[in-house]
Amino acid sequence: MKRSQIGFCLATVALATSISTALAQGRRYDSTPRREAASALDPATAAKVALGKRLFFDTSLSIDEWISCSSCHDPAHGFSDPRRFSVGVLGFRGKRHAPTLLGRGLGESQFWDGRAGTLEEQVVQPITNPEEMGMTMEMLLARLNRDPAYRGLTRESLAGALASYVRTLRSEGSDFDFFISGWPMVFSDQELEGLRLFRGKAQCYLCHAGNQFTDESFHNTGVAWNNGALQDEGRAAITGKQYHRGAFKTPSLRDVGSRGPYMHDGSLLTLEDVIEFYDRGGNPNPYLDENVVPLHLSPAEKKALLAFLRRGLAGSIRDGTGGRGSP
Ligand code: HEC
Ligand code: HEC
Repeated sequence: MKRSQIGFCLATVALATSISTALAQGRRYDSTPRREAASALDPATAAKVALGKRLFFDTSLSIDEWISCSSCHDPAHGFSDPRRFSVGVLGFRGKRHAPTLLGRGLGESQFWDGRAGTLEEQVVQPITNPEEMGMTMEMLLARLNRDPAYRGLTRESLAGALASYVRTLRSEGSDFDFFISGWPMVFSDQELEGLRLFRGKAQCYLCHAGNQFTDESFHNTGVAWNNGALQDEGRAAITGKQYHRGAFKTPSLRDVGSRGPYMHDGSLLTLEDVIEFYDRGGNPNPYLDENVVPLHLSPAEKKALLAFLRRGLAGSIRDGTGGRGSP
C-alpha cells in the first residue's frame, strides 16, 4: 500500500470513528440485540420463540382462518405491507400502513401513535381487532388448544411467545453496520456523502437517531395534514395534547429501501418521494416540528442521500430461530 493510500485509509477510519461516536452519543439505547435475539438462545427461550413464530404464520389466529400476522407484516417485505392499507378479515381495510417489525424489540412503545407500552400488550390487539383478525381471546384459545402443538396455551403464554418472536426480528450486516464497526471502506463515496448529509445539511438524524434510526419519539412532519386539513389525530388521540395533532412515532430506517410505501398512511410510494417531501419542508400545518424545514438539496445531494438510505442501510433480515423470517 502506498503512503498516500495509508494516509487516506487512516483519515477515513478517523471519520468513521467520529461519526460512530456521534451516533452513539445521540442514541438512547444500544443496538445490541436483546437476549432473545442473540444467536445462542437458552432452550426455554428458544422454545418460546419457535412457538411465537408458529403463531405468527398461523391463519387460525383470525376468525375466517384466512389472515395471519404475516399477511400484513410480510417477511419478504421487511415485515411490513407492500399495500398502502392492509386488508383484514372480511375485506376490512384499515386507515394506517402496517409498519416494519424490524428492531421493534428495542422500541419504547408500539403502534404509530405509541398506544401500547410493551410488545406483550401489543401483539394481542390485532387478534381481537374486528377489522384485523376479528377473534375473541376465548374463541382463539379454545380453537388453538385443540391442536396438540398448542396444548396448554393461555393468553399470557400466547402473548409472551408472539412478543418473544417479534423481539428477535432484526436487520444486520448492512454497509452501515460494517462502517461503524471500523470497516469504512465498504461505503461508496456516494453512500459516505449521503451519511454526511443525513447527519448534516439534511438533519435527518435529529429524529432518526441511533443505530435503529429512531428516537422512539413522536413528531409532526405534516404527512397527516392535507391542504391544511388534519386526516389522522395520531399521538394526540392518546395524549390529548394540541401539539401532538398529526404527530406519529419516528419509524426505523433499517432496510428502508425494500419496504415501501412509506409513512403512517403509506402515502409516499418511493424513497425519491420521501426525499422530495423533506426537501420542501414537509406539509405546512400549525404544529409542524421545528426540525422539518426546507433543505434546498441539490440533485447530486438527493442522489447521495438516496444511496445511503437504499444501499447503505440494506442488511440481512434475521429472526431468532436462525432463519430469515420466512415460515
Ligand atoms: C390486517 C393487518 C394486520 C394484521 C393481521 C396484523 N397487523 Fe400488526 N399492524 C398492522 C397495522 C396497520 C399496524 C399499525 C397500526 C397503528 O399504528 O395504529 C400494526 C402495528 C403492529 C406493531 C407495532 C409496530 C410499531 O412500529 O410500533 C406490531 C409489533 C405488530 N403490528 C405486530 C403484529 C402481530 C404480532 C400480529 C399477529 C398477531 C399482527 N401485527 C397482525 C396491521 C396488521
Ligand atoms: C422532526 C423529526 C424528523 C426528521 C427531521 C426526519 N424525519 Fe423521517 N420520519 C419522522 C416521522 C415522525 C416519520 C413518520 C411520519 C408519519 O408517518 O406521519 C418519519 C418517516 C420517515 C420515513 C418513512 C419510513 C417508513 O417506514 O415508513 C422515511 C424513509 C424517512 N422518515 C426518512 C427521513 C429522511 C431521509 C430525513 C432527512 C431528510 C428525515 N426522515 C427527517 C421524523 C423525522
